[in-house]
Amino acid sequence: MAKTEFIDRYKGPFLAHLEKRSQFTEPKNLYDPVHYILGLGGKRLRPILTLMTTELFGGKVEEALDAALAIEMFHNFSLVHDDIMDDAPLRRGKVTVHERWDINTGILSGDAMLILSYQFFESYPKEMFMELTKLFSKTAIEVCEGQQYDVDFETRDDVTIPEYLKMIEYKTSVLVAAAMKMGAIIAKAPEKEATAIYEFGRNLGIAFQLQDDYLDAFGDPETFGKQVGGDIMENKKTFLYLRSLERATQQDRESLLHLYSIKPEDPTTKVQAVKSIFMESGAVEDAKSEIESYTQKAYKTLDELNLPEASKQILRQFGESLMQRTV
Ligand code: IPE
Ligand code: IPE
Ligand code: MG
Ligand code: MG
Ligand code: MG
Repeated sequence: MAKTEFIDRYKGPFLAHLEKRSQFTEPKNLYDPVHYILGLGGKRLRPILTLMTTELFGGKVEEALDAALAIEMFHNFSLVHDDIMDDAPLRRGKVTVHERWDINTGILSGDAMLILSYQFFESYPKEMFMELTKLFSKTAIEVCEGQQYDVDFETRDDVTIPEYLKMIEYKTSVLVAAAMKMGAIIAKAPEKEATAIYEFGRNLGIAFQLQDDYLDAFGDPETFGKQVGGDIMENKKTFLYLRSLERATQQDRESLLHLYSIKPEDPTTKVQAVKSIFMESGAVEDAKSEIESYTQKAYKTLDELNLPEASKQILRQFGESLMQRTV
């Protein structure tokens, strides 16, 4: 299935459902930011995965629409709060919620989105509701834990690569994994299959966040939609940074440590210098092979799945399209 077919098959129904289920209007200062952030689009990766997984396991797309919406609503909530925490000016090529309104508006509209996301599960039968919300709560608290590690790491100077990997697993990949497992739950797939697809999503999600960190430094500002270099400005301890510390020359290592101890008014020179070290140290190549390796790990878990080869191929193609992404 080509990439555009995913869009027709899953994105269209998802967007129609989003429209139908987001009829809240007053108070405007609570809901305008909700419509704003959801209306900025984005890749809609997680809801597409929920719908696709449901169908691959023999369920109906319509039955998965509310869960897909819950996941996307939660994701957008996390972005609004994340942009406050990261002091980010741009999201999906537009000004962030807290910059357009203010921080308090971002906090409360974000809170409302989190609550709305739970409400979308109310349409499921009792047992399925229990199963879905249990997974959702476990995932949501892990995302909070990941976010806290991410922030804690900004001011720590002894972060290790395994700690970084744990952090991105929590802040990003568990939601991708849960989005897929929900599809399996809705399609009433056996537990073993649900667990295997969760593993697939977890590894794919780690690759996805590694790629996000790469694009944050080296993406094209025209297409990326976020402030390129933002992670460097915020002294984020990404794979690129941690690997550079391991691989760079003594002199570059010292420069890098220094650059990551300051937050200059004009960050242009700092961002350039850090990017050069990332490249020259070999950390960029290592990041690329790490992305490839987590994608391959995801593919390996497909062996455990009792699905037709054609379905596995669709999942692999999805993985490929993520590795190629520039947005
Ligand atoms: C952004 O997620 C936050 C990360 C976990 C990297 P996406 O890259 O899926 O953002 P949108 O929804 O497409 O804008
Ligand atoms: C985002 O990580 C994780 C969550 C929003 C939970 P990032 O901070 O790297 O995401 P972007 O780069 O702002 O999209
Ligand atoms: Mg951020
Ligand atoms: Mg962040
Ligand atoms: Mg990022």
